[in-house]
Amino acid sequence: MEEAGHQVPQPGTKPHTARLYDYFLGGKTHYAVDREAAVPALSANPHAMVAARQNREFMHRAARFVAQDLGIRQFLDIGTGIPTEPNLHQVTQAITPEARVVYSDNDPIVLAHARALMSSTPQGKTDYIEADIRDPERILERARQTLDFGVPTALSVVALLHFVPDEDDPYGLMRQLLAPLAPGSALVLSHAALDMDDGRMAALAEHYRKAVTPTQFRTREETARFFDGLDLQDPGITPTCEWRMDLDLGPIRQLPGTVSAAEAGVWAGVAVKR
Ligand SMILES: C[S@@+](CC[C@H](N)C(=O)[O-])C[C@H]1O[C@@H](n2cnc3c(N)ncnc32)[C@H](O)[C@@H]1O
Repeated sequence: MEEAGHQVPQPGTKPHTARLYDYFLGGKTHYAVDREAAVPALSANPHAMVAARQNREFMHRAARFVAQDLGIRQFLDIGTGIPTEPNLHQVTQAITPEARVVYSDNDPIVLAHARALMSSTPQGKTDYIEADIRDPERILERARQTLDFGVPTALSVVALLHFVPDEDDPYGLMRQLLAPLAPGSALVLSHAALDMDDGRMAALAEHYRKAVTPTQFRTREETARFFDGLDLQDPGITPTCEWRMDLDLGPIRQLPGTVSAAEAGVWAGVAVKR
């Protein structure tokens, strides 16, 4: 099968984070090896599907906040994932049709489905970069073809950094990515939590480390370090299920208050660069 001019990768022998996440979201882009890995993942943390859905809905609300309340019209989204509607550009272009969105991921399966990420409004623009967050120079250089870093840009890194262990210097990578962005730019970030429940997320991280990819879930304090030097927007760093539920896009799939922090399992926040 070919999509967007790229061969769809053949099923491998190893599960992958993007396809596992797609499975947890109820998508269709996963292989047997991913579904097999999902079984022990769900026994480690039976809330993994709720956590994935809550994370995705945080991304929708944060995108809405950035476009509507902060008036930002440019987005650089790293660790985009397999397209799942509504995608970031659909949320932002519904508010600002001229919004420009550049997506980036390191998984070839996301590239194979990138056509769904490129369906821009005529006034706006979208692009896709196949790259690893550990190569920030390449991402920034390519993103400059679509985005003007002289005006505020939102950098969104949603549910990705827990796959970048400390030895790969995730804090340094984020500083590099934020450095060229204009004052008034925003950081939208979520991160799997190590300190929000009684050990199920830690068990999930252990399973990912053994069966999927290097993984390091982090505490609230460790997640807060990604926002160092930026102005955190209300309500600060919260579980995904508690971040600005008033901005919900509806139809509301899980009513506010019906998901607990321990089930959501992911820290979330938005901050602005001075
Ligand atoms: C859990 S999904 C999150 C998708 C989307 N951001 C969301 O929150 O709905 C994590 C994504 O990060 C990507 N990813 C993992 N490690 C990466 C890396 N080193 N560089 C770029 N992308 C990476 C995976 O391929 C996957 O698509």
